[in-house]
Amino acid sequence: MKKSLLILGILIFVSFNNLKAQNLLAIPDTLSGTTFNLNLLDTNNVFFTGFTTNTFGVNTNYLGPTLFLNQGDSIQLNVHNQLMDTTTIHWHGLHVSAKNDGGPHIVIPPDTIWRPSFKVRDHAASYWYHPHMHHMTNLHATLGAAGMIIVRDTIEAALTLPRKYGVDDFPLVLQSKSFDANKQIVVHDAADSTMMVNGTIDAYLPTPAQVVRFRLLNASSERILNIGLQGNLSFYQIATDGGLLNAPVQLTRLMLSPGERAEILVDFSGMTGQNINLMSFASELPNGIYGALQPGMGAGQTIPGYTLNPLNGADFPLMSFSVVTPTTNPVTTIPSTLTTNTPWPIASADDFRTLTFTPVNMGPTAIQGPFLINNTTYNMGVVNYHIPLDNIEIWTLTNQSPIAHPFHIHDVQFYITEIAGVAPPPHLAGRKDVVLVRPGQTVKFITKFESFCDSMGMYMYHCHMLTHEDDGMMGQFVVDCPTSVNIDEINVGNNELLIYPNPAANQVSVKMQKEVVISSIAVYDFSGKRIIFENNINHNETVINLQEQPSGIYFFEINSNDKVFRKKISLIK
Ligand code: C2O
Ligand code: CU
Repeated sequence: MKKSLLILGILIFVSFNNLKAQNLLAIPDTLSGTTFNLNLLDTNNVFFTGFTTNTFGVNTNYLGPTLFLNQGDSIQLNVHNQLMDTTTIHWHGLHVSAKNDGGPHIVIPPDTIWRPSFKVRDHAASYWYHPHMHHMTNLHATLGAAGMIIVRDTIEAALTLPRKYGVDDFPLVLQSKSFDANKQIVVHDAADSTMMVNGTIDAYLPTPAQVVRFRLLNASSERILNIGLQGNLSFYQIATDGGLLNAPVQLTRLMLSPGERAEILVDFSGMTGQNINLMSFASELPNGIYGALQPGMGAGQTIPGYTLNPLNGADFPLMSFSVVTPTTNPVTTIPSTLTTNTPWPIASADDFRTLTFTPVNMGPTAIQGPFLINNTTYNMGVVNYHIPLDNIEIWTLTNQSPIAHPFHIHDVQFYITEIAGVAPPPHLAGRKDVVLVRPGQTVKFITKFESFCDSMGMYMYHCHMLTHEDDGMMGQFVVDCPTSVNIDEINVGNNELLIYPNPAANQVSVKMQKEVVISSIAVYDFSGKRIIFENNINHNETVINLQEQPSGIYFFEINSNDKVFRKKISLIK
């Protein structure tokens, strides 16, 4: 009798262990159309049975709805801050004007509504929104005031890809989180040992046995993930942060740092009944990355409490896929091509900037931060760069600190041109807005600052490890408008310069009197966009061809010696 009770006890214990408590993955609600109402709530959520955890949520208890945007739509967002704190909401990855960008200057005081509106100019991809209040970003984002954005466009719509949200197309918001004994969220410590996906701990997802799309977002404060599938099954990356890749890239591992997104396809065909874990193979992360066995390079470089966190340097599941029977009309193939990315040629760069990351403290505590960009800490009152509208620039990022930093820039998507001296691997060759720069490494990217100029509008660039960002590893730039837009017309005095005819039909002659040479001529259209730039003219006369341009008003800006002449010309076809 005693013996059989013991056996029964063992059986119960064993089966309890096998039926490891698994929770159905939460799929965020969706909002679509052209008006979006987002209510930032100070609320609570049950992550652990029997415990109520204080959280922030957007329209719900934790995290927020997925926003569906269509390229070309003009949208209006109403962000109602119902928190006790002033905060901001930033549309991470979207190309919007600075006043709509939701950076640290665009504050939303408690109980007020911020109403940005803009045209969606972005390529189909997965983006996200999150708070960006200076010194508070980590707190507000970690408590949960964040969500995903899915942009659709006609190129993506024409491809045979899974796109039934919650059926064969799933957002996976990946976060590591730290909880205290009362299951309250702890911000800024190295005990982020709980993984959650869409706010679900220990999640499983019934996944149909066909090609399924996952939109991965690393929304952790600090942790870098080395994503893969149990059994080293391969998967295909189809999109980077800001758009489709040229073609799917077959991978078994994908490193994803905070702020980065990747869309992947997994072919579960014929796997009905199997359970497959989505993993982070952090044992393979090289030292010098938050999440590896050692977060720093070099002896003694560590973070208090880091070695006690069982996730560091270990392989662990993020969630599991329980493969079920396919849906009707499943996608069963991986497309061979996706889109055409055309990075700006390196030779087209108008300017170069170098940004060097260093720790404030030298020695063993260097890794604990704070960190500096070009020896300065973020100052809301200082504009670190003035960038002329339409500049194409190459930025060189050099990490002279002992820990890897995921660098993010607002306003633009960029193309990586070099990582440690070589071209990026194919899965990093698409449109990006975050790039991980490892200790000792140099990364270069090329981008263009187009569409928006505003001499008062600040765009951020920063490390997306939120502790580093809050501690000042951030800078800001403005995109300056061409001066000729502000100056309607300046008389060209003393007949030093002749511009004729005016109005013109196709060609405009520019002639300096007295053999003075012209160095450059820029022509701007009425919107302020520079349409022509001719450098090194070194003659006292030249002809500018406006054959391709529509009728309208154009501004000529002529540089000669140290003089600048501006003149308005009408073009009548
Ligand atoms: Cu994801 Cu400046 O932010
Ligand atoms: Cu950093």
